[in-house]
Amino acid sequence: MSRFAHPAGDLHAASTIVAVTAGLPEERPQQHVPADLNALEPAIWPRTSGRADGAVTIGGIDVRDLAKEFGTPLYVVDEEDFRSRCREYRSAFHDGEVHYAAKAFLCREIARWIDQEGLGLDVCSAGELAVALSVGFPPERITMHGNNKSLAELDRAVLAGVGHIVVDSFEEIARLGFLADQHGVRPKVMIRVTVGVEAHTHEFIATAHDDQKFGLSLSSGAAAEAVRRILALPQLELVGLHSHIGSQITDTGGFEVAARRLARLLVEIKEEHDVVLPELDLGGGYGIPYVVGDESLDVKVIADGLREIVTKVCESAGLPVPRLTVEPGRSIAGVSGVTLYEAGTVKDVEGLRTYVSVDGGMSDNIRTALYGADYTAVLASRVSQAAPMLSRLVGKHCESGDMVVRDLYLPGDLAPGDLIAVAGTGAYCRSLANNYNYLPKPAVVAVSNGQARVIIRRETEDDLLRGQL
Ligand code: LLP
Repeated sequence: MSRFAHPAGDLHAASTIVAVTAGLPEERPQQHVPADLNALEPAIWPRTSGRADGAVTIGGIDVRDLAKEFGTPLYVVDEEDFRSRCREYRSAFHDGEVHYAAKAFLCREIARWIDQEGLGLDVCSAGELAVALSVGFPPERITMHGNNKSLAELDRAVLAGVGHIVVDSFEEIARLGFLADQHGVRPKVMIRVTVGVEAHTHEFIATAHDDQKFGLSLSSGAAAEAVRRILALPQLELVGLHSHIGSQITDTGGFEVAARRLARLLVEIKEEHDVVLPELDLGGGYGIPYVVGDESLDVKVIADGLREIVTKVCESAGLPVPRLTVEPGRSIAGVSGVTLYEAGTVKDVEGLRTYVSVDGGMSDNIRTALYGADYTAVLASRVSQAAPMLSRLVGKHCESGDMVVRDLYLPGDLAPGDLIAVAGTGAYCRSLANNYNYLPKPAVVAVSNGQARVIIRRETEDDLLRGQL
């Protein structure tokens, strides 16, 4: 009998060591054994993190104190890390706009930080919009996205006076025209263009090829038709084009191709309509390092590269250079966040690996199960000189695909009660969190200069029961 999971189907008996769950990558090379299991690779861990008295510290606070005061699992956000990345984007795109993508992680306090740092905000639902407006985020710095915005959502956005609405379908153009008439306003709109770039990332988060739900295709002429329809409605102000090619992309070539294609479309619009659109929104998608060996992107290099391409295309056609906007989410929030767990069951499956179970799992981080995402984790409550132990960090859910880190080495003396920190969980973990198996969502604590404060409180049993008969 095989000891390995294998894909279900006709070949049920032909076992191979491959991915066990849809979405997990094909078998990957065994991770190398880290030289020092206690080390915190600077590009992967929050900027203020380190070790003191053996334990990991973030924002000047010992994780053992955080666990004692706030419990586990716990999302910890390094405020200085988050804000410093906002500032780097602002300075790299000093002549353009930076809109933080709320979907990566938004709550009221994060919306305040974004406002204070002078960034705009990209939202894609009435809920995200409501969070932003609830703290007085200036609506003119908000962009509304979504492939299926309801009439109510559009109405809310128009009434709130959001700065931009990114149109994603022909129906939406008509709806917006109707709403603009009704309210006697002239919303600024952009067109989401599907530029036909193959983004080298997981299929579920690649968005610029034609065969997916977002945008209006450049190659089929749908984008050009959208331009015609919007220009025919005087109650809408067409200010630019938008593209977002996908997420967790580290090959900058894709962004550059997208920028060039959008800039060329600006030129064609000028030729066909004698209209000069003043803005280009190039979306987000900039990847971050999750494990040793992953690439880190330099924001300034990206900004300079994009600016140069757009300038070249526009100037050679005699067009003024449009104002550039980018919408980073993960590359601002991702590395600032760490999830702190307490180890429970430690089960050695003889000859294979040790399964280390933590007190959360796919309810607080579904990315491993959904995209085959990879993470770095360390023993955080102490240092250990024990030999590396091939491990799998798993959650407590009733699902064998409930993995937090599929392959990693942890110290061989790891024991129940130890704290484990997982890096790079600041983006798309709290925002994708769920209550599978009725687990309450963990609290989010912001740390800075030796102070910790809850910015989202832990859910309680009452929260879990709320709304039920
Ligand atoms: N702008 C638009 C229009 C987007 O759709 C997105 C992400 C962003 C900006 C921000 O992308 P970022 O800079 O964060 O890569 N749940 C997936 C990621 C989905 C991204 C959806 N759109 C994950 O956990 O990897």
